[in-house]
Amino acid sequence: MNGTAVIFACSHRARGNSDRGAALLAQGVEEAGGRAEIVPVRDFEILPCLACQACLAHPQHCCVLQAKDQAEELFSRLENAPVVFFSSPIYFYHLPSRFKTWIDRGQRFWAKRQDAIPGQLASGLLAPARLAHVALFAGRPRGERLFEGALVTLKFFLANFGITLAEPLLLRGKDEPGDLAADAGAEAELIGMGRKGWERVKPLL
Ligand SMILES: Cc1cc2nc3c(=O)[nH]c(=O)nc-3n(C[C@H](O)[C@H](O)[C@H](O)COP(=O)(O)O)c2cc1C
Repeated sequence: MNGTAVIFACSHRARGNSDRGAALLAQGVEEAGGRAEIVPVRDFEILPCLACQACLAHPQHCCVLQAKDQAEELFSRLENAPVVFFSSPIYFYHLPSRFKTWIDRGQRFWAKRQDAIPGQLASGLLAPARLAHVALFAGRPRGERLFEGALVTLKFFLANFGITLAEPLLLRGKDEPGDLAADAGAEAELIGMGRKGWERVKPLL
């Protein structure tokens, strides 16, 4: 584990609400004395999972696409950070396609975990859970179910890395790029999320 928080900025649009959210999370981490790396997922080339199931059979659960794109660069950040953050828009009641494409490539970590869990449980070596702090932005001002799909997917994706979802920040009515900047309360919540996220891991480093 390294000493840098990782903040995944998941919009396809640069300088929108999620990018601003990522910057505010980083501000919070830094105010608490930590370091943060903002990682825009849109800058990484990620090929879709082929559903070939080769990762299930491979002894180290490697993926046939591993050397062909940048999915592993994102996975190594996810595996090594003491705490992770996601700042993402909602697209069609779910996560943006590039982010979801990366999540699907996480299938090899699901396969790996199926092997690892029984042994870790038997030896009592199951690592303490790390936390993911998630901020989601939706354009619609209302909607009970806006965030459901994204949260369920994140929960099960992150479980393969021993990461648990902390209470998410769910922001409605954030559509135009400047909408977050016009909401001082939401901005303060994002800074607070970054600060608290780092304060929780600081004593462990
Ligand atoms: C392809 C696409 C699909 C979207 N689907 C939804 C949706 O289902 N519900 C919603 O409330 N907003 C939806 N939006 C609006 C975005 O969630 C909103 O504009 C958000 O602020 C974008 O984040 P960004 O500024 O970080 O790019 C959609 C936007 C796009 C581009």
